Amino acid sequence: MRTPLSRHAARALVGLAAAPLLLAAAMPAGAAPTPAHPGADARPPGQAKKDTLRWVAPKDLVIGTAVAGGGHHLAQPYPDPFTSDQEYRRVLAAEFSSLSPENQMKWEFLRPERDVWNFGPADAVVEFAERNKQDVRGHTLLWHSQNPEWLEQGDFTAEELRAILKEHITTVVGRYAGRIDQWDVANEIFNGDGTLRTTDNIWIRELGPGIIADAFRWAHEADPKAKLFVNDYGVEGLNAKSDAYYALVQDLLAQGVPVHGFSVQGHLSTRYGFPGDLQANLQRFDDLGLETAVTEIDVRMDVPQGQQPTAAQEQRQASDYRRALEACLAVEDCNSFTVWGFTDEYSWVPVFFSGEGHATIMTADLERKPAYHALRDTLAAASGRTVRG
Ligand code: XIL
Repeated sequence: MRTPLSRHAARALVGLAAAPLLLAAAMPAGAAPTPAHPGADARPPGQAKKDTLRWVAPKDLVIGTAVAGGGHHLAQPYPDPFTSDQEYRRVLAAEFSSLSPENQMKWEFLRPERDVWNFGPADAVVEFAERNKQDVRGHTLLWHSQNPEWLEQGDFTAEELRAILKEHITTVVGRYAGRIDQWDVANEIFNGDGTLRTTDNIWIRELGPGIIADAFRWAHEADPKAKLFVNDYGVEGLNAKSDAYYALVQDLLAQGVPVHGFSVQGHLSTRYGFPGDLQANLQRFDDLGLETAVTEIDVRMDVPQGQQPTAAQEQRQASDYRRALEACLAVEDCNSFTVWGFTDEYSWVPVFFSGEGHATIMTADLERKPAYHALRDTLAAASGRTVRG
């Protein structure tokens, strides 16, 4: 849902949009254009802007965002955001202390053919994070979605599939060993009723539920320092699906499987009430000795095309973001809070949820919304820091 005068449209009007397009076409996949001023992404140490989310956050909580690229972006009328949009990169570096590649580490993106690896864009995200002193959340290794055709349609024996998964996890986790803080090892492995996805998840269907433990073991071998997570949507509150994770995690821990974290994606909608039992849910995993995290929060709303949200809608959205952050802050080892994109310009929501949008904390013009201020005020209250603009 792009406003007629979004930043890209405005740039097109003044004839600047073609430059990044040409640049993107001429560059090898994943290469980032050299910033106009080297190091322009980051401020010199000691000169951090003191009005940003990352600056105001308590030291034991990273504030993350997805890094736009791949997936739905490929079908949008703009060039790759991460490599082309300098203003986007500036905000990405300034506001956030953790980055999650939105699609760049998914199977279909990383491995378009069985023996063709496309690491460039993922490498670029990790390098950007290092330059800007940001954590990275790796996403994701064992999932039912966004797998390449060669895998989903391939004619593999169980032994071959197992070897393919082991090779994948060993290669990908090993490549970034010591540089990725948290990995979503298993993503969305349960149905809403708490049964395992035994039909649409190729790994569980073909190899049985035991493959989940193996995926964690292989990831841990490849990077013993990374915290390994199970991650899902619809598990914010206490319900059949989060109960299934609670049982699974206890089972894995009892077997000595290296599982370290439970995370809720947090794709919320103002159509539904806020999951008021989020804190209680995170707490029960914390009590098992796990880290917890909010990994993909956005709060979508119904806004007719061409219109803007009402003040009441924006307040409700701000309240949901604030309550989710407060729940995380209240749980000792909830150490990471990530928004699934920070600008409406690049959000996946309008593409996937018809009629819904405006789900992120900044407008398409990178204006800070009430939701942004709700997060920053909540962080300031928790850290005792004073925002200085
Ligand atoms: C979404 C991306 O945002 C889109 O760009 C892509 O087209 C589809 O996937 N749960 C997840 C994320 O774990 O990987 C999904 O990301 C959103 C839901």
